[in-house]
Formats: sequence, C-alpha cells, structure tokens
Amino acid sequence: MPPLMDRFGREHDYLRISVTDRCNLRCLYCMPEEGMEFEDASNLLSYDHIVEVVQTAAELGISKLRITGGEPLVRPGLDGLIRRLKAIPGIDDIALTTNGMLLGKYAEALKDAGLNRVNISLDTLDPTRFKFIARRGDLKRVIEGIEAAGKAGLAPIKLNCVLLKGINEDEIAAFLKLAYEQPMHVRFIEYMPIGHADDNWRNHYLPLSHVLETAEREGYTITRLLNIKGNGPSDDWHMEGGRGSFGLIHPVSDHFCKSCNRLRLTADGSMKPCLYWVDELNVKDALGDPEAMRNIFYRAMDLKPENHEMAAKLADEALTHTPTDRRMSQIGG
Ligand code: GTP
Ligand code: 5AD
Ligand code: SF4
Repeated sequence: MPPLMDRFGREHDYLRISVTDRCNLRCLYCMPEEGMEFEDASNLLSYDHIVEVVQTAAELGISKLRITGGEPLVRPGLDGLIRRLKAIPGIDDIALTTNGMLLGKYAEALKDAGLNRVNISLDTLDPTRFKFIARRGDLKRVIEGIEAAGKAGLAPIKLNCVLLKGINEDEIAAFLKLAYEQPMHVRFIEYMPIGHADDNWRNHYLPLSHVLETAEREGYTITRLLNIKGNGPSDDWHMEGGRGSFGLIHPVSDHFCKSCNRLRLTADGSMKPCLYWVDELNVKDALGDPEAMRNIFYRAMDLKPENHEMAAKLADEALTHTPTDRRMSQIGG
C-alpha cells in the first residue's frame, strides 16, 4: 500500500483519535463554565467503528495512535478499546492525553491493556489556582493520577502546561524546578485561539520566549534534546544535571507545520487533515467498505494544507479565534 504522503512530501504515521467531546473539567481556555451542547452518545463512533478505521490506517502506515477527548477517560471501557487497538498489526505506540482526574482509578488497567504513554494536563501547582483555571475537580486528584501513572510504568510522563499571561506565568520557574527534580518532561504550550470567539485570547496569550529567559535567569544550563519518545510538535530541552526535561509547543509564534505527521479523527466520525482545517471528511459513510475508507485517508492527504496560516489571520486585530467551527475539546487537541 502506498504510504500516506501529502502534496508537500510529509509522511503521516500518527493518528489522533478523540473518543468523546465531554469533560469533567471546564478549563477556562477550552470550555465555558456551564459546559456545551455535547454530542449524543448515538452520534459517536462506536469502539467497533474506531477499530475498523484503525485497521485501515495501520495498513496505510499509521503506527502511532493518541487517544484524546474532551477527557477520554470519561468514556467507559477505554482500556478495552486500547487492548483491541494494540492488537492491530502495525500499531506499535499508543498514547493518551488526559487531564489526570481519573488516572488514579485507571492507570494500572490502561497499562495492562497496552497503553504505552500518557500526557497529562497540568497548568498550575497551586490548588486554589487550579480551581480558578479548571473550575472543577481538584489538584490533589491530578497529582495522585500522575503518581499512579508513574507507578504503573506509563513512561515517559509528559505534563502539558498551557501558559496564560497574568494567570500562571509566575509559575514558569516552579515548573522548571519540577522538571529538574523529577523524571518528567514538562511541556509549555502557547494558548491557541481556536473554534470560538475568545475575547480573552489576546489578553492572555504569552509567547514561549519567556520560558527560555526564565531558564537562563534561574541559572540552568540548557541544551537541545532530539530524542524524546513521541514525535509531536514539541521543541525539547535538557537541563544539565536535571532528572527530567522541558519542551516548548509554540503553534502561534512559530508553527511546526513543516514536520506535521498527523491526522485527526473526531469523536463523531470526521477526519480532519489539520487542526485548523474547516473541511472534514465523513468517516461514517465509509464504514464497512475498506476501499472507501482508504480513500478517506488519501483524500485527507490531498486536502491537507501546507501550513495553517494562523499568524497571517491573527494579524487581523479584529479576529479573536481561528475559523474552525469546532472547539479544541471537539477536535481532541
Ligand atoms: P507526543 O506524542 O507526546 O509528542 O504528543 P503531542 O504533543 O503530539 O500531543 P498532546 O496531545 O500532548 O498535545 C500537546 C499540545 O500540542 C496540545 O495543545 C495540542 O493541541 C498541540 N498540538 C498537537 N498537535 C498539534 C498540531 O498538529 N497543530 C497544532 N497547532 N497543535 C498541536
Ligand atoms: N491552546 C493550547 N492548548 C490547549 N489545550 C486545550 N485547549 C488549548 C488551547 N486553546 C491543551 C490542553 C491539553 C492539550 C490536549 O491541549 O491543556 O493539555
Ligand atoms: Fe477538559 Fe482538556 Fe478542555 Fe480542560 S482542556 S476542559 S481538561 S478537554
């Protein structure tokens, strides 16, 4: 089978699969406090459907999967899905992006099912501030979840910290210290404007140059790291003498589209060639027909843009978000 190569020569071996748009938190950069109109369960791809999509994906050279949400662990039976996906020939790495709230409960079962790694969202180390940012849940449970993931051997653990000007920028040094002292990889993420008019975006966006400046100010000697497990968009750094490391994900100030290797499947069955792409391909129409399913993947390769052009769009002062209809939680990040 020809590999999944797009018009710009990028090979695709990574599929992000969102299993739900629901979440047990309401992070202020992601979801309104009152929640949203969530998809009806009957509208979601079933686990059988997801397995069918991944069988075709694996034949076409996809070897790495990431399960996302909303919060993927709110959908029951996720360990069963992971066990089935891991058994598909060609799939050799399965990772999960989670807010950590339910990891204490499920880490062991997920590892046993074949999950390799977890990326856990953690935007603050302060319990009161956690309530302000996530608006539900509590920091203690997330910390317990991180510990449970470590105990279960889900390694390396990556922490995702979305930096918000005026909200958690004063914690950069504390997160660097955590990455220095613990065998964890802390990724700082630029706040992306996506899917909804977010008047706060321009006020709270913080470019990641602040992280490198803080690392220097705190006296760390840093060098670029090239071989962190996973092949996502992060620009990774080692701190001399440190047990962990840190990374920078800067989709806004310096996009990483040149090396993009991923496709996205939404929980309600749309293939998205790019996070910011408005046109979607309906996977449900191709269920039960392997050739039609292969064509969805090839079509995604034909449609995929060279880059997301967000910087140009954001130069328009009036724009507060990029024009996709979906929010982050409805795409899977
Ligand atoms: P690894 O395999 O561990 O490198 O994972 P990852 O960084 O690809 O996945 P994760 O779900 O942890 O995503 C971290 C952040 O990167 C989130 O804010 C995502 O929205 C963002 N991100 C991941 N892929 C893309 C992408 O293709 N484009 C953009 N703009 N952002 C992305
Ligand atoms: N900008 C940047 N990162 C975001 N995430 C969710 N919404 C945004 C946004 N607007 C992060 C979450 C999680 C990952 C999947 O995406 O914090 O770590
Ligand atoms: Fe939930 Fe993740 Fe969105 Fe926070 S960022 S509300 S944890 S989906």
